[in-house]
Amino acid sequence: LHNMEKGWMGTPIDELNRMPQCAPPLSHLKAVPNHTVTIRTDLLKEGEVPVPYPSKFKDMWDDVSVKMPCSEKNLFPMETEVYYCSFRGDAILRYNTAHAKKWDFTALNLLSSIPNHCPVLCVFKVLLLFFFCQPIPLLKSRMNHSLTLSQEQIACLVANAFFCTFPRRNSRKSEYCNYPEINFYRLFEGSSPRKIEKLKTLLCYFRRVTQTRPKGLVTFTRQTLSNPPAWESSQTQLTRLHITCEGTIEDDGYGMLQVDFANRFVGGGVTGHGLVQEEIRFLINPELIVSRLFTEALEHNECLIITGAEQYSQYSGYAESYKWKESYKDETPRDEWQRRCTEIVAIDALKYRHFLEQFFPEKMTRELNKAYCGFYRNNANSRHLSAIATGNWGCGAFGGDTRLKALIQLMAAAEAGRDVAYFTFGDAQLMRDVHEMHSFLTERQVTVGRLYNLLNQYSSLVCKNCRTTRPDTSLYSFIYEKVSSHATADVLDTTEDS
Ligand code: AR6
Repeated sequence: LHNMEKGWMGTPIDELNRMPQCAPPLSHLKAVPNHTVTIRTDLLKEGEVPVPYPSKFKDMWDDVSVKMPCSEKNLFPMETEVYYCSFRGDAILRYNTAHAKKWDFTALNLLSSIPNHCPVLCVFKVLLLFFFCQPIPLLKSRMNHSLTLSQEQIACLVANAFFCTFPRRNSRKSEYCNYPEINFYRLFEGSSPRKIEKLKTLLCYFRRVTQTRPKGLVTFTRQTLSNPPAWESSQTQLTRLHITCEGTIEDDGYGMLQVDFANRFVGGGVTGHGLVQEEIRFLINPELIVSRLFTEALEHNECLIITGAEQYSQYSGYAESYKWKESYKDETPRDEWQRRCTEIVAIDALKYRHFLEQFFPEKMTRELNKAYCGFYRNNANSRHLSAIATGNWGCGAFGGDTRLKALIQLMAAAEAGRDVAYFTFGDAQLMRDVHEMHSFLTERQVTVGRLYNLLNQYSSLVCKNCRTTRPDTSLYSFIYEKVSSHATADVLDTTEDS
């Protein structure tokens, strides 16, 4: 019985797993070779500010660690007094004299004239809390590594990014060309209302963390998938689906694994002009931004999982209409490691310029593996895994087809043993179509392997010979037809699927 008036279909959302209820107890937090922890784990206590570890700054200037502003090797060493001078762009300029002629601070200057939005002063306060004692490892390609930082250390790093103090990070041709931009200089350019609203959101974060020292931790994990599933022979059945045209991943998917519709450079255009799903998430949960400091561009079989990022702002609108609304008090419970039970996974879809491209078998397999990489957890029992909160991944800025991507995500989720909460972002027709397809496939017990073969058949029978920009048979009609005819003519099963 589906309650259409409520705007949702399928399994009621309350029946899906959420953290912390579904999770088994965590092991004790400790630094191991594949997990860097920058605080004293022995002193970690609920309600107390974590203590950095080690207590003396260890200077590293090598190619496996983040080059820090406070390093002796930095040609433009930190001088606290430089930040003092002004409420306007000058403070940043003084530090980066080399760029003085190129950078434009229009947005920042405009914001300075709005009462209660004095930018530099509040960021300056965070910067003074410079607590970095341990080199931060770069999370490079093909590394399976976790990094746990305190929220206070993160605030300090993000404040440094605001002041553009990270060395070697102001030019795209540098040794960090395969990393996202971290210094904020592009955010201050121009006078678009977007930039003003983005700055308001970030300044709200700086105000909050300077008013009250944050007391938790955040973990960043780079995960590489070395053995992709054998999709064509998978016997897995689809898992449960809750689908709704109302609400958002971040509001209604609390406690679930929330998908970030990412760029391979995590955070996408957050420090520049971008303002869609990923950038908005990075603005309202600004601790995510620090991942740009150390996460090398994601490869096809990689993702970044962030556990514990807190939400500091509420927003309205989207893209051009985005507005910072107000400060937000995040009351998500914390786990034993003092992390908010918010798990976000950055997976980057492929960008398509032509509709038909995405039906090439190798592209579909790439997207399946990417999603699976984000969803699967090693050695985890399905009962203990939270559901996945997702939606039109790769179907906005990246131009993908929502119906194909929904199926791909359902297949990857099934293979990873997790249920799905799908947010169609206002699209009621999509909700009905995906729900109908999911029910049909579940009733007929169509396996992931069978579905994979049907996708490839669609590609070769319908898309390959297509002379127009769009195929004349839709993917869903093709699947309905094939699966229904097989039920009556079983003989075809062996010939067509092999
Ligand atoms: N909850 C649920 N669905 C949403 C939400 C939300 N909060 N926000 C948007 N949607 P898009 P992409 C829906 O374009 O195509 C960024 O620059 C909405 O229907 O952000 O994967 C990244 O850095 C929207 O059209 O994701 C990448 O460079 C759709 O999700 C690039 O965009 C897709 O959102 C990724 O583009």
